[in-house]
Amino acid sequence: MILVTGATGGLGSATIDFLLEKTAPANIAALVRNPEKAADLRAKGIEIRVGDYNDPASLVAAFTGVDKLYFVSGSDVATRAAQHHNVVEAAREAGVGHIVYTSFDRKTEDGSSPIAFVADSHLKTEQWVRESGISYTILQHGLYTDFLPMFLGEKVLETGVVYQPSGNGKAAFTLRSDMAKAGAEVLTAEGHAGKTYKIVADEAVSYADVAAILSEITGKSIQHVSPTADEYVQTLTGAGVPADFAGFFAAFALGIAAGEFENTQSDLAQLIGQKPTSVRDFLGKVYA
Ligand SMILES: NC(=O)c1ccc[n+]([C@@H]2O[C@H](COP(=O)([O-])OP(=O)(O)OC[C@H]3O[C@@H](n4cnc5c(N)ncnc54)[C@H](OP(=O)(O)O)[C@@H]3O)[C@@H](O)[C@H]2O)c1
Repeated sequence: MILVTGATGGLGSATIDFLLEKTAPANIAALVRNPEKAADLRAKGIEIRVGDYNDPASLVAAFTGVDKLYFVSGSDVATRAAQHHNVVEAAREAGVGHIVYTSFDRKTEDGSSPIAFVADSHLKTEQWVRESGISYTILQHGLYTDFLPMFLGEKVLETGVVYQPSGNGKAAFTLRSDMAKAGAEVLTAEGHAGKTYKIVADEAVSYADVAAILSEITGKSIQHVSPTADEYVQTLTGAGVPADFAGFFAAFALGIAAGEFENTQSDLAQLIGQKPTSVRDFLGKVYA
C-alpha cells in the first residue's frame, strides 16, 4: 500500500493521478484531515484515511500497513517542524517500509539565507527521516512555476511591470505536476532507496527573462523593475496585501536574488523521462 499525504492539495492529488497510471487504486491510500474534501479521491477508488500532522495517534493509525509513504511537507511554516517530527515518529511506530519526503532545494544551509525560515523545517525533517532507520528517498523540490502568476500579480499585463526585488537572480522554476510525476516514479520503481534527488528544472530564469517572455507572448512591452525589499513591502501593503504575505513574497524574491534557487543540476528529466516543462511553455499556456 502507498499512502499519499497532502492528498487534498495540489501536489498530493497530482501525485495520486500519476500513480493511477502505474498501479491500481486498491494499492493507493490518501491521508486527509478533512474527509469532506475527499469526494474526488473516493470516486477514483482511493482508500481515505483521516489524520492530522498535529495529532500523532491519528497518524499512527493511518500509517498502519503502509509500505511506502509519500510525505508532503505541511503548509503551515510556523508549526511545520513539530508536525513533521510527528509524521516521522508515527511512521516508525506504524512500521512504514519507506518514506518519500518532499523537501526543498537550496544553496545555503547555515541559516543566513533570506528563506532560512522556510528551509529550517525541511533541513530538520531530512535529518529526522535519514536517522529514522526507515528506508527513504528525499525529493528536493524547486520553486513552483505554478506560482509565477501569483508573484507577477493579476495586473502585470496592464502595468507592463514585473515588480520583484530579485535583482539579476535566477530561479529554476519547476512545474508542480512534473514534481508529482517524479514522485509517482520513485514510489513505484526500484532503486531509489537512500537517494536524494534534485527535483528542479534544467534552466534558471530571472524576472527580466520572465518579463521578456511575457512581452513575446503578449506582444506588449513588459519590463522587470527590482525595487529594494523595503520599497516592495511598502508598495504591496499600500495596495492592501497583508504585511506577513508581503514579507513572505519579499523573502522569496530576495532568495532568488541571493541565488538560492538557481541550481539546475537536476535529476528530474531522468526520473520523468522527458524534459521538465519550461517557464516559457507554462507562461505561454497561461497568458497567450
Ligand atoms: N516548492 C514550492 O514552490 C512550494 C510552494 C508552496 C508550498 N510548498 C510546499 O509543498 C507542499 C505541497 O504543496 P501543495 O501545492 O500541494 O500545497 P497545498 O495545495 O496547500 O496542499 C497542502 C496539503 O497539505 C495538507 N495539510 C496541511 N496541513 C496539514 C496537517 N496539519 N495535517 C495533515 N495534512 C495537512 C493540506 O490539507 P487541507 O487540504 O486539509 O488543507 C493539503 O492537502 C506545501 O504544503 C508546502 O510545504 C512548496
